[in-house]
Amino acid sequence: MVHYQRYIQLRKVVNVTYVDEEDACVNMSACNKRSKPKLLFFLLFCTLLSSCLLLSPHLLPFPTSPLSLIYPAGAEDETLSVSKTSPCSSVSNGTICCDRSSIRSDVCVMKGDIRTHSSSFSVFLYTSKISHTGEQSFRQEKIRPYTRKWEPSTMATIDELTLIDKKPNSSISDDRHKCDVYHDVPAVFFSTGGYTGNVYHEFNDGLIPLYITSQKYNKKVVFVILEYHDWWITKYENLLKHLSDFEPIDFSGDKRTHCFSDAIVGLKIHNELAVDSSLMEGSKTIKDFRDILDKGYRPRIQGLVFEEEHEKSQQNKRIKPIRQQPEKPKLVIISRNGSREILNENLLVKMASKIGFSVTVVKPQRTSELAKIYRELNSSDVMVGVHGAAMTHFLFMKPGSVFIQVVPLGTNWAAETYYGEPAKKLGLRYIGYEILPRESSLYDEYQSDDPVLSDPNSVNDRGWEFTKKIYLDRQKVRLNLVRFRKRLIRSYIYTMTKRNTNDMVRSQ
Ligand SMILES: *[C@@H]1O[C@H](CO)[C@@H](O)[C@H](O)[C@H]1NC(C)=O
Ligand SMILES: *[C@@H]1O[C@H](CO)[C@@H](O)[C@H](O)[C@H]1NC(C)=O
Ligand SMILES: *[C@@H]1O[C@H](CO)[C@@H](O)[C@H](O)[C@H]1NC(C)=O
Ligand SMILES: *[C@@H]1O[C@H](CO)[C@@H](O)[C@H](O)[C@H]1NC(C)=O
Repeated sequence: MVHYQRYIQLRKVVNVTYVDEEDACVNMSACNKRSKPKLLFFLLFCTLLSSCLLLSPHLLPFPTSPLSLIYPAGAEDETLSVSKTSPCSSVSNGTICCDRSSIRSDVCVMKGDIRTHSSSFSVFLYTSKISHTGEQSFRQEKIRPYTRKWEPSTMATIDELTLIDKKPNSSISDDRHKCDVYHDVPAVFFSTGGYTGNVYHEFNDGLIPLYITSQKYNKKVVFVILEYHDWWITKYENLLKHLSDFEPIDFSGDKRTHCFSDAIVGLKIHNELAVDSSLMEGSKTIKDFRDILDKGYRPRIQGLVFEEEHEKSQQNKRIKPIRQQPEKPKLVIISRNGSREILNENLLVKMASKIGFSVTVVKPQRTSELAKIYRELNSSDVMVGVHGAAMTHFLFMKPGSVFIQVVPLGTNWAAETYYGEPAKKLGLRYIGYEILPRESSLYDEYQSDDPVLSDPNSVNDRGWEFTKKIYLDRQKVRLNLVRFRKRLIRSYIYTMTKRNTNDMVRSQ
């Protein structure tokens, strides 16, 4: 089995197995089988953003430190070089152009007579120009179309494509391999391998970059997917429909030769869970990406509402009086159990209800239907959760609503970088609730002057394995409800004020 072999090879190369509770899987065929949820949770190579988590670039001693590959320290500057006028922005017919200037991903552009050849993991570009020497040319570009270029161990698991610029052999009239399927729209090639299986990575490394790369085609584009997984297609078909009008192609599963006249290989990526409008045609933003989610999930949500109403009318024939009471502000707790769970969640629910919220607890699982989570969050005013991959669901909140992220000890930098900052860009009102040592379960295990409690940065400096073992895997949270209450009250007042303002505007 290819995946299995690669797993073994990879282990030899890295000999470090990152395992994170976040259920990210790299190249584990079991991850791809939705029918075996037990296996889904059996992780092999998992990291998460994790590997990048918590290691603030400014904490790194030198840019050349091996740790620097964990997070693209130059990520901010790097976005500058991914300008609209990248070296490949205007490619002439018959050329392959690769932009390798970004620290996060390589992107190649091909134009001309493009033909896939999956058994050799190649894409040919046939050109009619005969080279000066009359010899056959094999200019090649190699590319792994995945957006974590700065993590060599992850990239090693991604299928590599060879793009071949092939001039004809003059002694044969036509040595091009035959087209089986002609496409009159461009192709975008990318991989759904790597950390696919973890919701943060699915959005950050996959869907948002796919949106960034392909939205300019206005759905007139074919996705050609390496490390194709049926479950991924099923999970995201609602969204994929709004990015492409065509069936995606399984690059290695589909042995036919697909022919295109335009192709992009690799995905552009701007920043964590972000769309930089200055780099987008039509100045699109992360809000436009969110609109796609809304459009994508709408039919399914309408179906669910219809079913529920139908069920209700079956059970209860009496017509209920129409509710006149204004609806309470809605608060959703994204709940975890195990590491980083909120130990006094029940009390938190009670307190929030007392303040006046209608409270829902959501436990996202790998197999959870995203439309249902979207429905819950799109209709709420406040989302509360402890730092972790599930915070990615902030993308489902309406701009203008509140997101309170509980930040365990030692996770400040990651919490801000991966979720806090991106949430603000979506227009959410973001509150980072950094817990005090006493609110951490680690308080029961360490002396109060232990650096684990008093100086988490110094512990993080010692290396990723410490961060992971101590702060991510073993820490639970016991909220100081008096302290936390202030944030909830602020959120309540904010929500009510916003509603009243909206009502006033409407009644004018
Ligand atoms: C581009 O090149 C291919 C072959 O190299 C040729 O068949 C095609 O007509 C060209 N297209 C344009 C628009 O020049
Ligand atoms: C061109 O094709 C002929 C016949 O198949 C082959 O013998 C020759 O090696 C080819 N030339 C090159 C440069 O590949
Ligand atoms: C999300 O909420 C907005 C505002 O309440 C609503 O207009 C929209 O229809 C909702 N989206 C879906 C898919 O239900
Ligand atoms: C988490 O919750 C699930 C069911 O809700 C349960 O089966 C599992 O044992 C829990 N895990 C932990 C670590 O408590």
